[in-house]
Amino acid sequence: QRQWDHDYYQLMEKTAQFYQQQLKQPKFRERVVTYLKDRGVSGEIARDYGLGYAPDEWHSLQALFGHDQSINKALVDCGMLIEKDSNRYDRFRDRLMFPIRDRRGRVIAFGGRVIDKGEPKYLNSPETEIFHKGQELYGLYEMRQFQRKSEWAVVVEGYMDVVALAQFGIRNAVATLGTATSSTHIQQLFRVCPKIVFCFDGDRAGRDAALRALNHSLPQVRDNRDIRFMFLPDGEDPDTQVRRIGAEQFTQDALKSPSIFEFLLDYLRGQVDMDTFEGPGQLANLAKPFLALIADAIHRERFIQQLAMQVGLSETKLNQLLLGADSSSG
Ligand code: UTP
Ligand code: MN
Ligand code: MN
Ligand code: MN
Ligand code: MN
Repeated sequence: QRQWDHDYYQLMEKTAQFYQQQLKQPKFRERVVTYLKDRGVSGEIARDYGLGYAPDEWHSLQALFGHDQSINKALVDCGMLIEKDSNRYDRFRDRLMFPIRDRRGRVIAFGGRVIDKGEPKYLNSPETEIFHKGQELYGLYEMRQFQRKSEWAVVVEGYMDVVALAQFGIRNAVATLGTATSSTHIQQLFRVCPKIVFCFDGDRAGRDAALRALNHSLPQVRDNRDIRFMFLPDGEDPDTQVRRIGAEQFTQDALKSPSIFEFLLDYLRGQVDMDTFEGPGQLANLAKPFLALIADAIHRERFIQQLAMQVGLSETKLNQLLLGADSSSG
């Protein structure tokens, strides 16, 4: 471990504490705490997730850390200050702050939400020496603080989804930080629990995210692992859904949601019309790249059997079609 790593972590931790303190400042309190209350976030959950507030100022971090050149340079490297011409100023201003912690609990980045309206809705730390976006899961540290081992975890899109689920007692939610689910994400989760439920927003982007998660999950299918996909009604996200139906129903829905192979089967069947002459060939073309991702041979064979049965082909016929299929399509 390099020396600067250590310094970066200290700066980030101190910044997170500073943002947390700002929440209690009388001049900000009303606006920000009211916002949290309106969204149903209690003081306890805000504390557990270390939520804070970045004041509407250009130089609050320089006021906090002073003008030492090497510290200022480090703050730029951490993505907390933006350097433009010869000026440095706060990246996050007038935002509700979500500290992102690594597995060991060190603050490595932030997400910042505008209070009420503004663009962009969420501003995130850039990729830095200590923050590798595709590898981190927001809420994983907090989930493990609450409970070392859990039966399952739910993967959502947003910071507020994690916090809202926690508010309802579902403390095993993690978010992918606006990036696609990666293989690393899935590996990390399977190290701490045997069951993963993906639950993205009930919109186009959420359905696309589910397909990408499917692609990264297929290679990781093994015995004793359970991967499921929970689909929300149009316009809902886990935050709004848990408020609508409550924690018990949400949990029940999550645990009973379609398995990875049920999802893939439904997806494939939805894409082709098996009653047409081209249907079976199209199905094989479409299925082939997915099948190639299933590393576990027994699960792959079992899925081919199910697929054949569901679309009304014999297994022999489906295998023939797959042999002739163009694996570049789909
Ligand atoms: P959503 O647009 O679904 O927001 O983006 P949300 O999480 O439901 O937020 P609320 O409920 O309006 O507060 C999902 C995730 O995508 C990333 C963030 O990680 C966000 O939590 N995102 C979204 C960004 O990084 N930037 C944006 O401008 C919007
Ligand atoms: Mn690194
Ligand atoms: Mn969305
Ligand atoms: Mn959302
Ligand atoms: Mn939302």
